Amino acid sequence: MPLILGLETSCDETAAAIVEAGRIIRSNVVATQIEIHARYGGVVPEVASRQHVLAGLPVIDRALEAAGAGWADLAAIAVTHGPGLAGALLVGVNLAKGIAFGRAMPLVGVNHLEAHIYANWLHDPATDGPEAPPEPEFPVVCLIVSGGHTDLVVMRGHGQYRRIGRTRDDAAGEAFDKIARILGLGFPGGPAVQQTAGGGDRTAFDLPRAWLGESYDFSFSGLKTAVLREVEQQARVTRWTPDQTEAIRARLGGAIPDLAASFQDAVVDVLVEKTIRAAREHRATEILLCGGVAANSHLRTEMQSRAPIPVRAARPKYCTDNAAMVAASGYFRFAAGRLAGWDLDVEPNLKLVG
Ligand code: KG4
Ligand code: ZN
Repeated sequence: MPLILGLETSCDETAAAIVEAGRIIRSNVVATQIEIHARYGGVVPEVASRQHVLAGLPVIDRALEAAGAGWADLAAIAVTHGPGLAGALLVGVNLAKGIAFGRAMPLVGVNHLEAHIYANWLHDPATDGPEAPPEPEFPVVCLIVSGGHTDLVVMRGHGQYRRIGRTRDDAAGEAFDKIARILGLGFPGGPAVQQTAGGGDRTAFDLPRAWLGESYDFSFSGLKTAVLREVEQQARVTRWTPDQTEAIRARLGGAIPDLAASFQDAVVDVLVEKTIRAAREHRATEILLCGGVAANSHLRTEMQSRAPIPVRAARPKYCTDNAAMVAASGYFRFAAGRLAGWDLDVEPNLKLVG
């Protein structure tokens, strides 16, 4: 069965993976730069590009070694060419092109959002046994929630997407990251908010939910402002500023977990409600959760318990950026004969269409 080498460098993870037939993970290597960017409170694009240059080849070597595979075993190389940070994408795309050219291998350009969707096709025999579960059955409704996107997509077949909703301001992951910063929980914010929320009461604060009428669009900036006002009120300060973070934390005390839990519940409530309504309207067979925020345990359990149809979500490590998902979606493009030429370029604003 064809082995695809996937390469991912769209943001702050340098990742390579080898996946068989679009599903079976043979290896998955992620070199994260989180610690380097954490001191700046966010991803610094130029630093990310430089790290990708340093980590690219070693990560690919480790992926091959862990899979027990040689270059001759590979059917194609698939690389993320957008959306993402231009300089970061450029490193991965040029690395992949160089390898494909030097080794006369087919090259596949992958859309990062499509890759997040295909994380739901992955099966890891190392942790989940030899037998892969059946593939998702179309049509499916995909909720893509990451650091840069919040999209509701109806997928009727491989490579066939229709976006029916998007965020009008902040992405869901961005909202988690901003709230983590306000509460002084560190970067990246999602896992920190989730952990802190675990010790809090989600009904403690009545935070707003932007339903936006019948629309499948999302908006999280009003919620962020509401949390900010609540923090200022609870800590009795006129204005939150980053240099006051520790003083404000001391004043908030036990309200921190309650604020985190109430915020998380407000985000999850809207995501779950709209996804289920979309799934009903489009007669979806399944709901797929995709992107970094799909790692959130509250989102996963709420969606599972409220949806009338099956809900699929990859293991958390395959929800956040990785290259196994790139190899999986690359396989389905490869199988459809959709190869890239030497003119494959980075597309920082690439959309999911098809
Ligand atoms: O998909 P991803 O790894 O990168 C992008 O394509 O953006 O998503 C990263 C985002 C970050 O905003 C991070 O805070 C969020 O996913 N995230 C989470 C969790 N794990 C990661 N958000 C909520 N709960 C989590 N457990
Ligand atoms: Zn991503």
